[in-house]
Amino acid sequence: MYTVPKLDDYSPATLDRAISQLESALESERREVQTEDDWKAFRDRWLARKNGILTQLNELWLKGAPPESKKEIGKRINASRPLIENRVESQLNWLRAAVHEIVGSPIGLPIDISLPGIHRPIGVKHPVLRVMDEIVAVFKAMGYSIGEGPEVETDYYNFESLNFPPNHPARDTQDTLFIAAQEQKPARDRLLLRTHTSPVQIRVMELQPPPVRIIIPGKVHRNDPLDATHSPVFHQVEGLAVDTNITFCDLKGTLDHAMKALFGSSVKTRFYPSFFPFTEPSADMQVSCIFCGGKGCRKCKFSGWIELLGCGMVDPNVFEFVKHNGYDSSKVSGFAFGMGVERIAILKYEVEEIQLFYEGDVRFLEQFA
Ligand code: PHE
Repeated sequence: MYTVPKLDDYSPATLDRAISQLESALESERREVQTEDDWKAFRDRWLARKNGILTQLNELWLKGAPPESKKEIGKRINASRPLIENRVESQLNWLRAAVHEIVGSPIGLPIDISLPGIHRPIGVKHPVLRVMDEIVAVFKAMGYSIGEGPEVETDYYNFESLNFPPNHPARDTQDTLFIAAQEQKPARDRLLLRTHTSPVQIRVMELQPPPVRIIIPGKVHRNDPLDATHSPVFHQVEGLAVDTNITFCDLKGTLDHAMKALFGSSVKTRFYPSFFPFTEPSADMQVSCIFCGGKGCRKCKFSGWIELLGCGMVDPNVFEFVKHNGYDSSKVSGFAFGMGVERIAILKYEVEEIQLFYEGDVRFLEQFA
């Protein structure tokens, strides 16, 4: 059993040796602790005010030392104190944890190996992310690369370069959250939370000359009140293809294939005239109702069709903003589309309310495990 030795001299070498003896004694006594009673004895032996080892260090080493060595010894003892305290405390924690472990206790505690183990449930991918990844995978298989852009965007990328001129009423279709106190900045530099993933179209074309085939998943924000089908934060997947001779037929074929891959091969698509400032012509793509197969039911409001995404041929005015990088609308053409991920997830999994995706209720989420 370790006892605090008297020091013959106070040279650094002697102190080093004494301290390392002390630490190895602490370590080997710690290993002997197998029960809480052992632990109490261990604690008192090292930390008791009266005659604990730490106290003895002060008595035997510090008090007996010549004045010129006191400072150094005091320092050494003070440095050992947290180590001792820490070992004592962690030994108790370790002991308690070991009692609860089913196997591998190195301290020979009685163990009932028939008890169930500690069950740590494995998480699963959130349904929104899962659908987003699925959509992206469908386009990856068609040779698209993946692109991303910032969620805090400038007015230029979110609107102006997408052919929404300043103050144009088309901006009202996307109720926008602006960052406060930017009145001193030029309008196009003002920051906002992007209302769609379309600004990444421009960012990609600025970086990469044609041809482009890119799929862009991301989070977007709108100043929409929360209701069963709207959330101020939601997700989109954007697509953009630009090359020579890209036609509306390519857009239709690509999206028709993607919808069959997502919803099953019996699903049909149709394209309905629409308007977006950055595509011309523009369309809303609808799929035949995945619930009734197109016969008409409550979910499709008895129309047989469900509107799923916006798309169109890239407007030549958009190419003007990236003309310097090879986007000459007399030479290249392209199509773009953007779809709401939650909307698709709601259809795929028959979820009643969009909020369910954001509440983090395990009872909801575990259905996707
Ligand atoms: N960005 C549009 C929206 O959020 C969707 C869209 C993308 C439309 C690309 C056409 C082309 O509503």
